[in-house]
Amino acid sequence: MNLPLTYSDWHQYSLTHPEAFWAEQARNIPWFTPPTQILSTDENGLTRWFADGQLNTCYAALDYHVENGRADQVALIHDSPVTNTIRQFTYRELRDEVARLAGVLQKLGVTKGDTVVIYMPMIPETAFAMLACARLGAIHSVVFGGFAPHELALRIDDARPKVVLSASCGIEFTTIIPYKPLLNDALRQASFQPEHCLILQRPQCAAELQIGRDHDWQLLVSRAQPADCVPVNATDPLYILYTSGTTGKPKGIVRDNGGHAVAIKYSMQAVYNLQPGQVMFTASDFGWAVGHSYSVYGPLLQGCTSVILEGKPVRTPDAGTFWRVVQTYGVNVLFTAPTAFRAIKKEDPEAVLSRNYDLSSLQSVFVAGERCDPPTLQWLQAIVHVPVIDHWWQTESGWPMVADPLGIEELPVKPGSATKPVCGYDLQILDEDGYQLGPNEMGLVCLKLPLPPGCLPSLWQDDVRFRASYLSRFPGYYLSGDGGYVDEDGYVFIMGRVDDVINVAGHRLSTGEMEEIVSSHPAVAECAVVGIACPLRGQRPVGFIVLKDGFQIQETTLETELVTLIRDQIGAVACFRNALTVKRLPKTRSGKILRKIIRYIADGEAYTTPATIDDPLILNEIKDALLRRRIGQPFEID
Ligand code: COA
Ligand code: AMP
Repeated sequence: MNLPLTYSDWHQYSLTHPEAFWAEQARNIPWFTPPTQILSTDENGLTRWFADGQLNTCYAALDYHVENGRADQVALIHDSPVTNTIRQFTYRELRDEVARLAGVLQKLGVTKGDTVVIYMPMIPETAFAMLACARLGAIHSVVFGGFAPHELALRIDDARPKVVLSASCGIEFTTIIPYKPLLNDALRQASFQPEHCLILQRPQCAAELQIGRDHDWQLLVSRAQPADCVPVNATDPLYILYTSGTTGKPKGIVRDNGGHAVAIKYSMQAVYNLQPGQVMFTASDFGWAVGHSYSVYGPLLQGCTSVILEGKPVRTPDAGTFWRVVQTYGVNVLFTAPTAFRAIKKEDPEAVLSRNYDLSSLQSVFVAGERCDPPTLQWLQAIVHVPVIDHWWQTESGWPMVADPLGIEELPVKPGSATKPVCGYDLQILDEDGYQLGPNEMGLVCLKLPLPPGCLPSLWQDDVRFRASYLSRFPGYYLSGDGGYVDEDGYVFIMGRVDDVINVAGHRLSTGEMEEIVSSHPAVAECAVVGIACPLRGQRPVGFIVLKDGFQIQETTLETELVTLIRDQIGAVACFRNALTVKRLPKTRSGKILRKIIRYIADGEAYTTPATIDDPLILNEIKDALLRRRIGQPFEID
């Protein structure tokens, strides 16, 4: 058979012959037992990939390369302007670090199938921890270090970890953030208690250890015997990553071992066009899906070098940090969120600092996490002179769903579009009733089942919520939660969430959860939290509050209290800074709050007053409140 060569042929082939397509990709993974069953349905009626295959993801990411000529190649570089240090590890060194840490975990009783929570900053030990769990067949769950104790407690209660791994502190610009008090607080709030906590003492801050429960990381590692890789089934979970849904309870996205390894490795070649030995710099926190897939697993499965940055794109020390990293390590592919470039653009609009560095190693720049606004895309193109690719994905997919497949064929970039569906993804735009829409018609972005390997098989111990959240609205389709359209050339434009999820500086947050927290304040009768446009962070939440009858409180006092409440419960990353009191909220006659209209008003977008609105005059009150506090367009300017 003549194999197809263009993107369009490959994409078509991947949809018409999914088993043949993915069986071929699976050959690139060093299985212990290669799969013969490619696509199947499990006893719960859910799609599974490579069900009878056996592997170990840590083996494929590390040991395999050590045994096959890459032992002395640098695998991981930690560049930390906030501590003024650079550390690097060859594949052999990384394998040895990971094997010793796995030995420690084994001694603490961690075995295949156990869960382990990792609450750590951007340091190499976080990657060691993830890989050590994978080595033992344990399931890691990394919790973003910027989350407050309450969020950590929710995740501990859901994941029920045998061990929690943490560090004494993280560093935000020049501020040292002690993690141990946050962990202690989370454990006080959680109903479930792990047997052990393993704490890495960093020189910037010492953590107090609780005798019996807490252990010193370095001490135990210095005494540990390395542990071997434990074979697992392809369908066994590799990790759980919690993400925001529409309520206060985060969703535990499950990633399996086999499908993940195959899909991520495929993406390294087909999307990012990275060859073994090349260098990838993904500027994202380990706590997000991007950090899992392209700071750790992707580059390592592909035999690349991964650069991680402990610092921000700006002010650590300046807006030239990314360009310095590119030059220093000869970065071939740079991947981050558009907000990071907007932050650089704000401080260095003419990109003067980029001229101090040689960026010639770069072959492409990828952005995701939110739609890349065309001005930022064009600004970046003029600096790097290589393709700048906006691509779309979610924690749920774990790898790109829509992208420019540079490893197959470079498609022309259309600003504002994430380009075309990646092989394996059958993307369709449906209307509210489930009918397929035509070119340029805006609707709900859905994926026809089955989802390709790597995508979530379910939610952690919650098939019911999985089906309800993603599969039940349109039978036979996965509902992404995003709205958008496909143009006449097949380019996909993702225009934003259609549910209560917002993206703030590339961080996915739930306005539904914020509303639950705001409503817990004794003054609040009802509220709506809406994501309004923000020139730096893409979106930011603003609360609209109706006070309980007779409750006396100044708007600014209430705002301060609500801001503190959200910071304490979710974390500073929520960027909840404004709460406006209004007499009423706009609602439909059936009582549904019209959040979309509030957002349109704040963003200065045209809207039609819905025929179902209870009282159109309320919209003027919303406008007045925004004007009074100088919030929203035209005040939110760069
Ligand atoms: N630990 C503790 N606090 C954290 C934190 C962490 N890991 N990450 C962020 N925060 C805090 C910040 O210190 C800030 O606190 P403040 O309100 O007291 O100042 C708050 O959360 C908001 O953080 P952020 O929105 O990130 O603002 P910032 O000014 O610190 O940085 C950017 C802005 C754009 C530079 C930064 O958000 C960025 O680099 N974003 C890239 C996003 C990304 O990697 N997304 C992953 C998907 S690709
Ligand atoms: P997360 O799960 O944190 O990766 O967030 C996923 C959400 O981010 C998606 O549902 C989109 O709303 C948004 N998103 C990610 N990438 C893009 C993109 N390239 N364009 C538009 N929105 C994006």
